[in-house]
Amino acid sequence: MRVLMVAPEAVPFAKTGGLADVAGALPKALKNMGVDVALVMPKYRDVDEERFSLRETGITIKVPIAGGSKKATVLKGKIEGNIPVYFIRNDKYYDRKELYGTAHGDYPDNAERFVFFSRAVLELSKAIDFKADIIHCNDWQTALIPVYIKTLYRDDPFFSETATVLTVHNLGYQGLFWHFDMHLTGLGWDLFTPEGIEFFGKINFLKGGLIFSDIITTVSKGYSREIQTEELGHGLEGVLAQRKNVLYGIVNGIDYDEWDPATDTYITANYSPEDIKGKAICKSELQRLYSLPVKKDIPLIAMISRLAGQKGFDLIEGAIDELMAMDLQMIFLGTGDRKYQELLEEIGSKYPKKAGVKIGYDVALAHKIEAGADIFLMPSRYEPCGLNQLYSLKYGTIPVVRATGGLDDTIKNFNPKTGNGNGFKFMDYSSDALLKGVSKAIELYKDKRRWKKIMQSAMACDFSWEHSAKEYVKIYNKALTKVGSN
Ligand code: ADP
Ligand code: GLC
Repeated sequence: MRVLMVAPEAVPFAKTGGLADVAGALPKALKNMGVDVALVMPKYRDVDEERFSLRETGITIKVPIAGGSKKATVLKGKIEGNIPVYFIRNDKYYDRKELYGTAHGDYPDNAERFVFFSRAVLELSKAIDFKADIIHCNDWQTALIPVYIKTLYRDDPFFSETATVLTVHNLGYQGLFWHFDMHLTGLGWDLFTPEGIEFFGKINFLKGGLIFSDIITTVSKGYSREIQTEELGHGLEGVLAQRKNVLYGIVNGIDYDEWDPATDTYITANYSPEDIKGKAICKSELQRLYSLPVKKDIPLIAMISRLAGQKGFDLIEGAIDELMAMDLQMIFLGTGDRKYQELLEEIGSKYPKKAGVKIGYDVALAHKIEAGADIFLMPSRYEPCGLNQLYSLKYGTIPVVRATGGLDDTIKNFNPKTGNGNGFKFMDYSSDALLKGVSKAIELYKDKRRWKKIMQSAMACDFSWEHSAKEYVKIYNKALTKVGSN
């Protein structure tokens, strides 16, 4: 089976969130199952040609856009396991400081940038003669590809055997653009209807993918149910409910080559379930990094997060004074919306002895935090899967999460009687519920014997990609049965 994985970001090349971790790791797991897989993404400025030994392929493709065409060149690199990665280069579109926008907002030409990318992917597959059985798209940036396959490329024999799978990593980001951008897409106005890609007067890229892809997946079973409801459907619940027969939830795996305290090269001292001593060293280093008092027995709670409405910072705002009255320390690492950035900075300056704040994107620090913290907090309003709770488990850093989406699916409440469970969950989206969740964790932390037990069960959890990759292969086979059927 041949799969072309298409993603707007992928580890190790360029990353803003968990999608990049998935796009970098899933191909490796697929390859291990014998799938012939290649990855395509844009060549952003962040993608370092030297560091990743990228080479020019000499291929230039003519990409149709806005009734004319523009050129892209193609670079090639690889990810571990000898998986080819193709980079679509057009410096006008992608040679920018950020991937999608700055703190002031999205780049105004994002419609054009990702129409171009989507068309370029199709033209590239022809240019390199990569006849995919499956084109696996990820999020709105790639969601027009299934639309193109079923419209403009419908009669193209090159794609006659190709099925499309669209994975929704986050329904909160849909690629909404004003109708004047229709001319960029090359699609007919007949598609600009409520049954097509129109959405309250705008063009909705993700909606196009949800309607036209052969199979839709999302990144946990819980989230696949939630997005069919008004509360978490972001206006697309109707479309999703209509397509529920082809909608699947497959929980993300994590890449233990990258995230394992026994081998992690970013952390000061390695450790494992058999010999956990190194974790205490990582903790004191982390306290120093955040200029907090270096204390062994105080619970250290961490958050690493995009600073976005989804992630529950309004609950932190409501709970912070009470949290800071408890015997604990908190540290934050994040970047994103200015208002949450200001909130965190305020917390840092109001409570310099108890809260540490670093605004920015720092992969090495993210690893140090996973290793050095005792508790990892994710009070998300919604969470399609969430990766940090899974990394935390591996590092024996106990998750306290709101029971939603993938957080609900992957974290089991600790039961002090039986000793089962790998973390703490709270249900209500409220500061009070968050405080109760944190208090339970802090209580248990004082009981060294039980805390050791929960750390052991957390570290024993296995969320490797192997299982989820098998599920994807099953889905690919289902998608193939649909080729040519509509
Ligand atoms: P999302 O994709 O919604 O941001 P996930 O939990 O799936 O949430 O994945 C987030 C990923 O991004 C994790 O790998 C996390 O470590 C990383 N991350 C988020 N913010 C930062 C940051 N400021 N610095 C470093 N890594 C970050
Ligand atoms: C998204 C979601 C997150 C998920 C990630 C990878 O950005 O917000 O929950 O883990 O994609 O699928």
